[in-house]
Amino acid sequence: MLSADNQKEKKKIIIIDFGSQLTKLIARRVRELGVYCEILNLKEFKRIKNFNSVKGIILSGGPSTVTKKVYPKIPKNIFEKKIPILGICYGLQLISKVLGGKIKKSQRKREFGEAILKEKLKSILFKNFFTDKKAKVWMSHQDAVFKLPKNFKNIASTNNSKFTAIQNEKRRIYGIQFHPEATHTKKGFVIIKNFILKICKMKRNWIIGVEKNRIIKDLKNKIKNDKVICALSGGVDSSVVALLVNKAIKNNLKCIMVDTGLLRKNEFKKSYSLFKYKYRLNVKLINSQKLFFNKLKNIIDPEKKRKIIGSLFIKIFEQEAKKFKNVKYLAQGTLYPDIIESKSSTGSKSSKIKSHHNVGGLPKKMKLKLIEPLKELFKDEVRNLGKSLKLDSLLLKKHPFPGPGLAIRIIGKITEKKIKILQNADDIFIKSLIKYRLYDKIWQAYAALLPIKTVGVMGDTRTFEYTCLLRAVTSEDGMTAAKYNFTNEFLSKISNKIINEVSGINRVVYDITSKPPSTIELE
Ligand code: XMP
Repeated sequence: MLSADNQKEKKKIIIIDFGSQLTKLIARRVRELGVYCEILNLKEFKRIKNFNSVKGIILSGGPSTVTKKVYPKIPKNIFEKKIPILGICYGLQLISKVLGGKIKKSQRKREFGEAILKEKLKSILFKNFFTDKKAKVWMSHQDAVFKLPKNFKNIASTNNSKFTAIQNEKRRIYGIQFHPEATHTKKGFVIIKNFILKICKMKRNWIIGVEKNRIIKDLKNKIKNDKVICALSGGVDSSVVALLVNKAIKNNLKCIMVDTGLLRKNEFKKSYSLFKYKYRLNVKLINSQKLFFNKLKNIIDPEKKRKIIGSLFIKIFEQEAKKFKNVKYLAQGTLYPDIIESKSSTGSKSSKIKSHHNVGGLPKKMKLKLIEPLKELFKDEVRNLGKSLKLDSLLLKKHPFPGPGLAIRIIGKITEKKIKILQNADDIFIKSLIKYRLYDKIWQAYAALLPIKTVGVMGDTRTFEYTCLLRAVTSEDGMTAAKYNFTNEFLSKISNKIINEVSGINRVVYDITSKPPSTIELE
């Protein structure tokens, strides 16, 4: 369970995860209200002995069905604890089943997508939600409740399912078949807000400025006079970790920056000077460009590239760590989603698509103890924390960048020449996004170099050059993504600029696929 000692008495909302892809979104919405919450799987939930600090419980959706003999169940006694409960999708079906209602597979196949919800009875859960007793909601279910449990009332319906929202107002138990956490449910946030603030009566207790001081104090108490090392990648997470630890222990922190030669144009130099001169961190720079180029020579397979880069990082880091005497801790930027993903609701591990590597995921083999000051936070909370630590605003808003860097954006063989070409094209793309104020609207954008040469013509001369692919996506957490809709004019402008200014490229394409079925990176 997440709760560190200091969190034990913190009032909280518990979200029980039944395996929905959207569970993390529920937690983010609760945190956006400034309210502390934790996601637990059923096993962890059953281990809770003392419910004093639990002020509300949300049961997530999930792929299971209560119409089978075996399905994930909540202990019946949670309904006796007088804690408000909200069941979402599977959560609603579970509440109904456990309390004596009846559920069956819907006659029509699945109800998936947008539906119109109609108000049947005034409920505090839906305060300020409906317009003219109607609202658009997002559904994804096959089972439906057809008989309510005793003392429950129907509060809203869609054409396809009568008991889409139900309540036992006296016992403060609510269930909804649709997903208020999904952005497709317009105003879904209002429902979560009503549940958390009006029904659970939670007050704001998760304020990043306050958490910052708590985290620094905890770090001080934990590290005392021991030494800490930290791998600095120049991304938001490791930067925030380094600043926090630096605030806590200053002289005993050593940061290591490894220049792989695979970063964006000039990025390494910029980050290094920022850390060294602006934040006055104790940074050691390791120039490993040649080593990385040599080891990646002629490697085409994406997984091999990732493995080589990952193991080189570990090797360099281990060598450097040995040079600092008596180091006890390694500080790294593990985030809350990493923790949630590493424990699934069912115990099964989702199948691996790509072997992700970042500097944070370093050294399982090393004998250092881990310090993970961001392990309770979502990415946007880390950004807020960075802001309160006065982290440079450009760095704060920086798009995510993969650990293996440009190596996985040069499809096929990597050469120094290709890296230069790509860095120049990417630099034009990113600078234009900033200039036209598009950068902050996009989750992640980059240029990639495809291993395809095509014929072109420039100033009456035939060219035979590489193709540059541009990718820009919107996303909330990188798990799913949609292409960003640029105007044709913008795309033409960028294409012209890249072809005119970057020798080696004579064709530019824009990737319009979403994730799924594609992924954000190409390799
Ligand atoms: P994909 O390509 O899996 O990427 O859709 C999802 C998000 O993860 C980032 N990514 C990585 N981040 N090490 C990282 O630190 C990696 O090896 C890695 N591979 C992908 C990707 O940039 C996107 O934000």
